Amino acid sequence: MTRNTYNELINEVLMHQSVTERLEDFSGKNRIELDNELIELILDLYNDDQDFPYQKIRKFSMSDILAYLQATHRYYLTKKLPEIEQSLLHIFSKYGQTHELLAELCMFFNDYKNDLIEHVKMEERAFFPYIKKLMKADTGELSQAEIRELLSTTSIKQFTEHHDSIEDELKEVSQIIKRYSPVERPPMPYRVFLNQVEFFELELRKHAIIEDHVLVPMAIELEERLRAEL
Ligand SMILES: [Fe+2]
Ligand SMILES: [Fe+2]
Repeated sequence: MTRNTYNELINEVLMHQSVTERLEDFSGKNRIELDNELIELILDLYNDDQDFPYQKIRKFSMSDILAYLQATHRYYLTKKLPEIEQSLLHIFSKYGQTHELLAELCMFFNDYKNDLIEHVKMEERAFFPYIKKLMKADTGELSQAEIRELLSTTSIKQFTEHHDSIEDELKEVSQIIKRYSPVERPPMPYRVFLNQVEFFELELRKHAIIEDHVLVPMAIELEERLRAEL
């Protein structure tokens, strides 16, 4: 096996772990059961989002996609963010006295964390519940009057117009570190931290792709169908 294939294999295993890990409830009780084919497709999306066959993923139900996205939100807030914060803390304990850039890095990350929590909260409190109501309307659990009321007060467009690319801001982290160390390589703990942040940025980008290019088109289609049936 060449070194490259070996590395690819390791990457694939790590990626698979990271995608399946989020489906475990931390109490270990409620594992979210997702179709294997859906997990495979999501992994393909991690490898390549240029030629990704969106039609294929759209054959799954909206509730599957929502379950995946919600499990991912939980995973970000309860596992990924604390892990990254832990690394930052480690850097702080090592270099806190000597490196000025640390204060800037901590401040940046703290602001970022709050923005991300806000972003997730908005989706959990408004965007996803609206989609769940559309699904209820589709299965006949809402009256005509309720559907009319729902469609006249809310729309997917209201969410998509404000759905910002929260991952872009993370690029700032590497710039802050490079500003500190323009020529030499930054010390190891910074590189570990940077790696984590870069992987997280990729994570968030794939997450947003599923929201924008899978969930939203499905929801718009349903919204239009419900509107036509009124
Ligand atoms: Fe999200
Ligand atoms: Fe989002």
